Amino acid sequence: MRTVHTLKELRAMLRGYRQKGKRIALVPTMGNLHEGHISLVRRASETADIVVTSIFVNPMQFGVTEDLDNYPRTLQEDQDALDKAGSTLLFTPSNNEIYPDGLARQTRVIVPEVSEGHCGASRPGHFEGVATVVAMLFNMVQPDVAVFGEKDFQQLAVIRKLTRDLMMPVEIIGAPTVREKDGLAKSSRNGYLSKTDRAKAPVVYQTLETAAEKILQGRTDFSVIEAEASYTLSNAGLRPDYFNIASSLTLKPATVDDPQITLLVAAFLGTTRLIDNLSITR
Ligand code: PAJ
Repeated sequence: MRTVHTLKELRAMLRGYRQKGKRIALVPTMGNLHEGHISLVRRASETADIVVTSIFVNPMQFGVTEDLDNYPRTLQEDQDALDKAGSTLLFTPSNNEIYPDGLARQTRVIVPEVSEGHCGASRPGHFEGVATVVAMLFNMVQPDVAVFGEKDFQQLAVIRKLTRDLMMPVEIIGAPTVREKDGLAKSSRNGYLSKTDRAKAPVVYQTLETAAEKILQGRTDFSVIEAEASYTLSNAGLRPDYFNIASSLTLKPATVDDPQITLLVAAFLGTTRLIDNLSITR
C-alpha cells in the first residue's frame, strides 16, 4: 500500500487508476483502526478495484471540550492493518493540507434535519464538521463508492443526505457494526475505559436489545421504553446522554405505525462517551 500526504500526490495516483477505468472506493477514518474500520476496507475491496483509505483526525468535528488533542494516533499499526485488509492507497493529510486558511475561513456544509437530534443536539457543530470534511474528501478522491459504518447511524444518514442534496455521484454503502464478544460496539474510544468501566460497558448494547424486544412484542409506549432504558443505564453506573426511539429514515421520534425503527443511545462511562444503535423492522 502506498501512503500519500498531499492532495497533489493523491490526484496523481488516482489519475492513473481512473485512466485504466478502475472503480474507486473511499473509506474515510480518523485512524486508530480496529476491526470495525477494517471491515469497511474489506467491504470496499469487494465492490471496487482500488480502495483509498483516509486517516484524518478532523479538528472541525470536535467540540472545544472534546478529545481532539488526546485522540489516539497509531499510524504504523494502521498502515500494517490496512495493507493486510486490501487497501490500495492511504491518504493521510496534515491539517494545513485540508484547511490551509484555517477553520474560521473554511466554507462549510450544513445538513438540516437529520443532523439535528441525538448526537447533533449534544455535540453542536459536530455534523457540520463531519459533512464538510466528507464533502471535501469526496471532491479530493472522487470515488465511485464510499463505505461508512452503521455504528455511527446518524452520521451515515447525514452523509446519505449530503450526497443526495449536493448531487454527488458517489454511491454510499452502510456496513454493519462490528462488536466485541460481549456486544460492545468496537470503538477507538473503548481504549479510554478503565477496567471497571470496561466491565460495565456491555450494558449499552444490552439495553438496546431489551428495548427492541419490548417494541417487537407490541409495546408502543415509546417514551416509557426510553425512560426505562435510561434508568437501566443509570442504575449500571453510566450517565445516559440520550436514549431515543426514532424512525429509521428520518431519525425523528418514531410513531406507532413506523415499520422501521432505530434505537439510538449515547452514554458516558466516566468521561468516555459511548454510542450505539439497533434497527428493527416491525
Ligand atoms: P471514525 O470514528 O474513525 O470511523 C470511521 C468509520 O468507521 C465510520 O464510517 C464509522 O462508522 C466506522 N466504524 C467505527 N466503528 C465501527 C464498528 N464497530 N463497526 C463498523 N464500523 C465502524 O467516523 C469517523 O471516523 C469520522 O466522523 C469521519 C467519517 C472519518 C469524518 O471525519
